[in-house]
Amino acid sequence: MERLQKVLAHAGVASRRKSEELILEGRVSVNGDKVTELGTKVNTSDLIEVDGVPIYKEEPRYILLYKPKNVISAVADDKGREVVTDYIHLIDERIYPVGRLDYDTTGLILLTNDGEFANLLMHPKYQIDKVYVAKVEGIMTSDEIFKLTNGVVIDGKRTSRAKVKVLQENIKQNTSIVELTIHEGWNHQVKKMFKAVGHEVIKLKRERFSFLNLHKMNPGDWRELTAFEVDKLSKLAKGSAN
Ligand code: URA
Repeated sequence: MERLQKVLAHAGVASRRKSEELILEGRVSVNGDKVTELGTKVNTSDLIEVDGVPIYKEEPRYILLYKPKNVISAVADDKGREVVTDYIHLIDERIYPVGRLDYDTTGLILLTNDGEFANLLMHPKYQIDKVYVAKVEGIMTSDEIFKLTNGVVIDGKRTSRAKVKVLQENIKQNTSIVELTIHEGWNHQVKKMFKAVGHEVIKLKRERFSFLNLHKMNPGDWRELTAFEVDKLSKLAKGSAN
């Protein structure tokens, strides 16, 4: 346990004397409660804020999760449904998902507490490839594949060029498995793209995000990205070179 003014001074907030003034002025809180007593002792797990700003920056965290079906891509849900952060144990930092997968979509989703990194990956001007595998109703014609590849209009906007690969056709069931690679991240984009060419999506999985995949992972599994992967992703996003 350390005296609060000493901890503030060590964190570089201000000199010891100035830190005492900050406390007396009621600008310092410990675990959300305003503290105005100079003798207050704190330890390393306490959340200390000056004017509402935490004095220590959290360690940046970068996590890859294989999102299972029927899980919300958020940190909380007002209807009490499972959320992606329920799966990430032993991480104290306040991580959140980078973009969204639909409730019923499975697959690769990143989580971080690094806002700059999240913005970089989600910004429309940075083009990161995302690879989806969809089970759709019906068998796709070459004309439909051509349209999907060259862009379809959804919500008044034309999608940019996509890669389309039919992986399987089941004539009896009248369904197809199609791989679609896009680099935008609009709401329900894949489902809307298939719908635009007349096919309902029955099942959807995101298999790849840039060079990251779900190799050897099961739904609900997660791992931290390596420093190399974080660096490579940032560089790819900035250079749009994927
Ligand atoms: N496109 C969709 O339609 N749904 C997703 O979850 C992701 C992309």
